Amino acid sequence: MLKKILVCSVVSMFVLCGSVISSFAAADAGPADITMVDSKSAKPKPAQFPHKMHQDAFKCGECHHGMADGKAVPYTEGMEIQKCDACHNADVLGGKMKDKLKLDELKGAGHGNCLECHKAMAAKDPALKEKKIDKCAACHPKQ
Ligand code: HEC
Ligand code: HEC
Ligand code: HEC
Ligand code: HEC
Repeated sequence: MLKKILVCSVVSMFVLCGSVISSFAAADAGPADITMVDSKSAKPKPAQFPHKMHQDAFKCGECHHGMADGKAVPYTEGMEIQKCDACHNADVLGGKMKDKLKLDELKGAGHGNCLECHKAMAAKDPALKEKKIDKCAACHPKQ
């Protein structure tokens, strides 16, 4: 009997520790490198995204946000992070525009966030202009 209880508590310790570790993993930083692609698109144009490199240079809230009452809410530490197309799709943000960008498509979210920043940074910094970070091929490498 005692042996059974002991085995049981050792097992539950592992289970507990395991769930503590995986909850740290859930609050982790995500993959170091990501390829973004709109799975619903007829003409997919994958975008490469060195996530870790951007995390080293910018705050999470530069790109990640949440939603309440259909409006974007700023990122806060520890907030659940979802894929962009969890919201940027026709069902959730149908018809939403920003300037000429359709925010109900992954392309709109990607260009509104990624391309806008790349253009702004290249306009300010000749070295980044030289690197052509504002050109299509920076994110969409030629196949
Ligand atoms: C320059 C923009 C940018 C910055 C800065 C950034 N991220 Fe991300 N992150 C993204 C994009 C884009 C994705 C991919 C989302 C997708 O696949 O739709 C992503 C994905 C993730 C994921 C995986 C989400 C999933 O369900 O697949 C996690 C976790 C994450 N980021 C956490 C963070 C944390 C924590 C920080 C700050 C330390 C951070 N990110 C900084 C843009 C950014
Ligand atoms: C939880 C839902 C949700 C997720 C996940 C989400 N967004 Fe959004 N996003 C919104 C909402 C809501 C708006 C505001 C739409 C409007 O104009 O009413 C918005 C607005 C935007 C805008 C335009 C507003 C601006 O001024 O910047 C961009 C660009 C954008 N999101 C990019 C992204 C990117 C990139 C990701 C993934 C890293 C992402 N979003 C993830 C809900 C979300
Ligand atoms: C807040 C500004 C900002 C945002 C948002 C941002 N980037 Fe960047 N990105 C940069 C800067 C600045 C560099 C150049 C860093 C360097 O080389 O010093 C860069 C570099 C890159 C590079 C490497 C280009 C090369 O030729 O070396 C890729 C690829 C890239 N970004 C893709 C993306 C994608 C995809 C997104 C959106 C998911 C994104 N970026 C969002 C600022 C940004
Ligand atoms: C800073 C990164 C970045 C740059 C620069 C960029 N894009 Fe994108 N683009 C993305 C992201 C992220 C997506 C969303 C992922 C996707 O749809 O495959 C996207 C999506 C697209 C799509 C939608 C493909 C589909 O799946 O339907 C097209 C078309 C496109 N981009 C064309 C361009 C063109 C043309 C340029 C140059 C004027 C350009 N992009 C520059 C990041 C970028």
